[in-house]
Amino acid sequence: MEKLKVSFKINGEETVLYVAPNRTLLEMIREDLKLSGTKEGCGIGDCGACTVLLDGVPVNSCLVLAPEIDGKEVVTIEGLAQDGKLHPIQEAFLNENALQCGFCTPGMVISSYALLKRNENPSEDDIKEALSGNLCRCTGYTKIIEAVKKASSWLKGGK
Ligand code: FES
Ligand code: FES
Repeated sequence: MEKLKVSFKINGEETVLYVAPNRTLLEMIREDLKLSGTKEGCGIGDCGACTVLLDGVPVNSCLVLAPEIDGKEVVTIEGLAQDGKLHPIQEAFLNENALQCGFCTPGMVISSYALLKRNENPSEDDIKEALSGNLCRCTGYTKIIEAVKKASSWLKGGK
């Protein structure tokens, strides 16, 4: 199968890859770029484990074809930490014990990041809505919601 050239930015780095037309963004991230923080759960757009930001918008990377990201910017969970320091949302998840098995966590953190970028003071309903596409099969969402609230207050306080 003929490969297509895809030029994009990932976690701030300009990148060029040649990919099969049917390669998914998720496969490209995990297998070609070896960024294993993004998880594959269902592979069909149901679980949100594979969520990344595409031009700032959270998307299920299992549903995006790699050639579609030509000229665009992708941010994965690896792109949130800066200078070896966790992003406040990541710290808040740790602080609130919101990581259970942790499989859904990267997607949850990316969706929370997008929420707090557009709304620095979300209500509990806003948080629930923003995370509605991210499924956690562990013990529930209470700690995850608390973590997003804590991250919101830290970010407002300039942490
Ligand atoms: S792996 Fe993409 S939504 Fe589940
Ligand atoms: S922490 Fe296990 S699926 Fe969410």
